Amino acid sequence: MCGIVGYIGPRLALPILVAGLKKLEYRGYDSAGIATVTGDGLHLVRAKGTLHNLEQKLNGAAQHSATAGIGHTRWATHGKPEEHNAHPHTDAAGRLAVVQNGIIENYAELRIQLKEAGCLFKSQTDTEVIPHLIACHLPGRSLLEAVLKAVSQLKGAFAIAVVSADFPDELVVVRQQAPLVIGLGEGENYFASDTPAIVPYTTKVLTLKDGECASITRDDVKVYDFSGTAVRRAPRTLNWNQTLVEKRGFRHFMLKEIHEQPGVIRSVLEESMGDEHQPVRLDVPEELLSGLERIYIVACGTSWHAALVGKYLIEELARVPTEVCYASEFRYSTPPLTDRALVIGVTQSGETGDTLAALHTAKGLGVRLLGITNRPESSLGNLVNDLIDTRAGIEIGVAATKTFTSQLLAFYLLALKLAHLLGVQTPERIGQILTGLQQLPVYIEQILDTQERYITELAKEFETTRDVIYIGRGINYPIALEGALKLKEISYIHAEGYPAGEMKHGPIALLDSAVPVVAIAVPGKVYEKVLSNAQEAKARDAQLIGVAPLDEAAAVETFDQILPVPVVDEILSPILTVVPLQLLAYHIAARRGMDVDQPRNLAKSVTVE
Ligand code: F6R
Repeated sequence: MCGIVGYIGPRLALPILVAGLKKLEYRGYDSAGIATVTGDGLHLVRAKGTLHNLEQKLNGAAQHSATAGIGHTRWATHGKPEEHNAHPHTDAAGRLAVVQNGIIENYAELRIQLKEAGCLFKSQTDTEVIPHLIACHLPGRSLLEAVLKAVSQLKGAFAIAVVSADFPDELVVVRQQAPLVIGLGEGENYFASDTPAIVPYTTKVLTLKDGECASITRDDVKVYDFSGTAVRRAPRTLNWNQTLVEKRGFRHFMLKEIHEQPGVIRSVLEESMGDEHQPVRLDVPEELLSGLERIYIVACGTSWHAALVGKYLIEELARVPTEVCYASEFRYSTPPLTDRALVIGVTQSGETGDTLAALHTAKGLGVRLLGITNRPESSLGNLVNDLIDTRAGIEIGVAATKTFTSQLLAFYLLALKLAHLLGVQTPERIGQILTGLQQLPVYIEQILDTQERYITELAKEFETTRDVIYIGRGINYPIALEGALKLKEISYIHAEGYPAGEMKHGPIALLDSAVPVVAIAVPGKVYEKVLSNAQEAKARDAQLIGVAPLDEAAAVETFDQILPVPVVDEILSPILTVVPLQLLAYHIAARRGMDVDQPRNLAKSVTVE
């Protein structure tokens, strides 16, 4: 949700800032801007639309000699995506510029006060109050002191960066519940909302905590808390694989990430296999899992779908009652949490505002917490003591794919560890599931190798489709939801997922020959039931696509088209059944010419409420 970058050093700032913004474009891409300082003062260039437009405007701009500056790529919250709302925003004198990621909740009252004091506003953003406030506090103060004075008046969750023509050798950054990481170089320093913008230059990083700010010069980074007291913070070195942020011949990051799934699952499993005393090696302390009465899982979007599969696994394998809550609802609810409850927060980015807030609520009640994330260095990592790192590698495509299957894997491992601890499954059953999990990477490879061409062809039939219904039951109901979400977010086709048995209670009224139905029907408890529900749809003229075994006569008989998946123990099937649905969504969207990696109105990391 908005990306911030900054550089100060001996080199030209513009190429570094633009390259950094490109790496952060997944966080927001409706407008962008850069502010730099040179001996001539502050230079500002902003553009509506993608970074390409900003780059065009930067050609011939006066700031090419600058060696310090800040940049921003925006996901609009307050004010339409127009150039005048793009960051950076400046004070009235045009001497200082600010970029912000987050929301200033009390901006309206601050704006009124500042207007009464004579400030003129040029945008509809919440951010523009910040440069005006800093400018008011600057006389007689250092830049850092003025920024801290301004920050003391702000309410909300935000990360801020400030550059000033009057302090050309310093940048100031602030973190309050929005991500910000500082990269340490030799005679130069960087900062960004996320590490991919920094790692081409340095892997030595320093992560600010909430309620901290930093004064960054070419040779030094000084960290303070909001009262201005110096804080000691040791840098750490990132273990970074640069190939993860390159497309490596794939047309889109999303397609590359779909293809990375077998490798991710294989390597996580290799590190997670235990012995007969402890069949699953998972870095979760036993005290956290013992004596549990109930588990609550909080998450949003695709992570919420992973949580639904997680509930199924924990209840089926470990027999612990589990509830799945939308984090945005949980944060304002009053669940009867006791010290025998565990709240699990699932967020691939570790930065989702609603999920963090839900966990804050639970933490305040003294409940045990566990995080599941792909970014252990994130805000989630700061909030909880215990984490399962899904180790999928950075995901650039806005639509989650490999992080989803790696979250599923985390739930399998957790449920099995819990089942072993509670003694509710035999060692044979636990061993059977672990062996089954180890076969999945080869099966996913088979799906990817054999189906891509067919799905590319099938996608042609969706050129004018306006609505698609996905159905599934049991452990594959969340996969129907996920298939529908993938399609709607990248192709903008209206798609809904339903429990197959619910269709007859209302949604079946939507069906006719123009509404394809995608059914997940794999052998197991509900196989025949789903096939019957699919037949009910067929009787209403719906085109029927089945994610089903190819050589099962009943499936061949029922479906017009089959996206085949190998037959596995039903409990393991979600990691397979989701893959053809990811491919289907991808190819439909790519065929329609959509910007698959950066769908409209979305952002990879949703830090606002
Ligand atoms: C869908 C998608 C979103 C995220 C949601 C939560 O493809 O990516 O629905 O799943 O915004 O994000 P995290 O997992 O980062 O909390």
